[in-house]
Amino acid sequence: MTQQPEVIYLKDYKVPVFLIDHTELRFELKPDKTLVKARLKMRRNPESQDVTRELVLQGDKSLLLCRISVDEHVLNESDFQRNEQGLVVSGVPDQFLLETVTEIHPDQNTALEGLYRSDGVYCTQCEAEGFRRITFYLDRPDVMSVFSTTIEADKDAYPVLLSNGNPVAEGEADEGRHWITWEDPHPKPAYLFALVAGDLKLIEDQYQTLSGRDVALRIYAADKDLDKLDYAMQSLINAMRWDEQVYGREYDLDIYMIVAVDFFNMGAMENKGLNVFNTSCVLASPETTTDLGFQRVEGVVAHEYFHNWSGNRVTCRDWFQLSLKEGFTVFRDAEFSADMNSRTVKRVEDVALLRTAQFAEDAGPMAHPILPASFIEISNFYTMTIYEKGAEVVRMIHTLLGADAFRKGSDLYFDRHDGQAVTTEDFVKAMEDASGKSLVQFRHWYNQAGTPVLNITDAFDSETKTYKLTISQSCPATPGQEVKQPYHIPIAIGLLDSQGGDLVLPNGETTQVLELHHAEQTFEFGGIHEKPVPSLLRGFSAPVKLNYPYSRDNLTFLMSHDSDGFSRWEAAQKLGVDILQSLVADLGQGKELQLGLLLGDAFKVVLDNKDLDKAMVAKVLTLPSEAYLSELADVIDVDAIHEARQFVRQHLANQLETEFYSTYKVCTSTDAYSPSADSIARRSLRNTCLSYLMATGKQEYLELALVQFHEADNMTDSQAALSLVVHSNFVKAGEVILDQFYQRWIDQPLVVNQWLSVQASNPQRGALVQVENLMKHEAFNLQNPNKVRSLIASFCSLNPVNFHAIDGSGYRFLAEQVITLNSLNPQIASRLVTPLTRWKRYNLDRQDIMRKQLQRIMDSGELSRDVFEVVSKSLA
Ligand code: ARG
Ligand code: ZN
Repeated sequence: MTQQPEVIYLKDYKVPVFLIDHTELRFELKPDKTLVKARLKMRRNPESQDVTRELVLQGDKSLLLCRISVDEHVLNESDFQRNEQGLVVSGVPDQFLLETVTEIHPDQNTALEGLYRSDGVYCTQCEAEGFRRITFYLDRPDVMSVFSTTIEADKDAYPVLLSNGNPVAEGEADEGRHWITWEDPHPKPAYLFALVAGDLKLIEDQYQTLSGRDVALRIYAADKDLDKLDYAMQSLINAMRWDEQVYGREYDLDIYMIVAVDFFNMGAMENKGLNVFNTSCVLASPETTTDLGFQRVEGVVAHEYFHNWSGNRVTCRDWFQLSLKEGFTVFRDAEFSADMNSRTVKRVEDVALLRTAQFAEDAGPMAHPILPASFIEISNFYTMTIYEKGAEVVRMIHTLLGADAFRKGSDLYFDRHDGQAVTTEDFVKAMEDASGKSLVQFRHWYNQAGTPVLNITDAFDSETKTYKLTISQSCPATPGQEVKQPYHIPIAIGLLDSQGGDLVLPNGETTQVLELHHAEQTFEFGGIHEKPVPSLLRGFSAPVKLNYPYSRDNLTFLMSHDSDGFSRWEAAQKLGVDILQSLVADLGQGKELQLGLLLGDAFKVVLDNKDLDKAMVAKVLTLPSEAYLSELADVIDVDAIHEARQFVRQHLANQLETEFYSTYKVCTSTDAYSPSADSIARRSLRNTCLSYLMATGKQEYLELALVQFHEADNMTDSQAALSLVVHSNFVKAGEVILDQFYQRWIDQPLVVNQWLSVQASNPQRGALVQVENLMKHEAFNLQNPNKVRSLIASFCSLNPVNFHAIDGSGYRFLAEQVITLNSLNPQIASRLVTPLTRWKRYNLDRQDIMRKQLQRIMDSGELSRDVFEVVSKSLA
């Protein structure tokens, strides 16, 4: 039985007792081991009340301490103590030089935290607490130090040696070795430290900042990937310009480096001046990368760049404040992407993700506020809540203050706290101080978990010509939080007249932000001559669930008339949800499914409207996902949701076959590939049409898909055709093109990952057997997180019908993988377990078998803190 790991509480925060002014590191990289020599200039923190002479350093169990000295006096066993967490040195003076020599083994590091090797390249991941796997240190973000780093390695195998800042010296050493010293003048916490050593190639560019300083931009990757770096470079340059224009923030070093590695737990990491990226977030070429992939590269490159201010210059005091940098930075990158591409499309995509994945998190056992009060393992809190809900909270501040006051607030925040490690409270305070707007009640968004629910009713009085909206709010209980205080919620609304035109609202405009403060509140609008149709929560102005008794006619009306693009899409989603939910209920009662022409007619109007953005047409035509329908359900009936959705798709396909076919043709183009918003939109609509055509089950559309597959000059079209055919009843055709696809892309790991994912997400029977076979395939490697995500995570989250098979085979499979990965890579294991943790949302039969598998993981032996926290909280 695993012993209960320690719980860390925000309320226990204390300032550090000691500080580190200067950190000098020397790495000697050797095949069997790496020596880390650290010289730390330390002193007592004048702000600490603690008078202890004991110095407590963090250091992982795996560190081998070879030597330790204080002020050049070598310590012996009685002067210090090793324990599970690190090292305690007794009797230290107020100011001293601490020197250690530590041996570590990057080759055995499968957890991919600290220093490890990815395909022969040494690299580091130190956020959140990885630095303690490199050397003994004060591994906490409020200890900021200037770093000087020397790397020594074999010259042939590791010609490129990188760390933060600027190279200041280099030289040759014995036995064909060489060394380089890097200095980073900006004090930083250890989590922003990085080291890279390998045989890497680079592309290079120049950037001139607003104030005229030249910055060298370098992106490093393996030689074979050198042709896929241009898009990342362009995105970086765009992001640098945007941050100057929109936030007045300039880059502050002479060099900005990005390194692409294939083994990486997350997307990327904002280490000062030396970002390390998952290849999946930096490599892009038309032949190998889908449109989604291009947009991901642009977004993540920008995200990591923006961290240079929101994260690095101003960092977090402690890890409870993680959303301070992540929520703000996600908001910044979302606005950047909106400015670079289509704003409405970006918003629709972000909201769809939030409402499925983040709302589900809020409704599950790991629900937490964006400022959590406690954790066992901080890696478990790199969540949709911290990131995406955190970004929504910043967006609401932006909405409440308006763009100008928000900018004043961000200027004040950066100026006031430059070089400091601060809290979300400091952020909110800066916004308040700069704008004069009270955010006292708004702060509940930071410490209450759960998704608020708004119930809205209305009344129109033709005598007094007044229209009233009555809005009530509530928020369901979450673990540890039974009762919630009312939130301060910005609700952007419009009112439509019977012609579909916008009424002018009291603020003189056609959209107004109502500020809800109370549990229930009524808003009155005078001078209204007929009962309007309300357009509620325009642009998704708050991360809430909203109920208003729209009729289906209201929704089709809003779909074609609402002046807010987001709300037109939302009306279509609501209509789809309404129809699908009643079909799911019918299935539950054993009724035969029936569907009228209303939805198809509404879709036809949208298809026929040539003025609409094609990307938005594609979004409107896409039915609510199974994941979203599941999130909305009281009890998730996996099979009924799948069947109802397939039924509606087929019905629409038959009703609008001609329109889908002609739109497909209109959207076919011979222009060379471009990742511009326009051409992405065209491909997206074309592939949406193809998916409906395939839903007719007709042979002629299989032919059409196969032609597209063979003739495509880009991965978007080729992959779309591949997955449509593989997921269809044309089993033989699917097998043939899967084979062709693999043979063609065998040398491109990221494309092979797509190939794995298409098979893992196949809703047809037998997917689990296929996944199990693929785990033995040469293309799979359990130690590579991208492979695990493509195959195992795709099966468990993108293939509900098979994962939730009533014989429990999917659950057993996942438990086995989690148990194996628990010892190899705890972060990945703990993320993987998520679908099982949602057991309470299913019927009792499924609950029972899901729980058993969670218990099996719990009983499987010694668990990492990561897996222990998630599984134990799920079983509680
Ligand atoms: N700060 C990184 C980002 O959002 C994420 C790194 C998270 N790493 C981790 N081991 N949890 O860009
Ligand atoms: Zn981030």
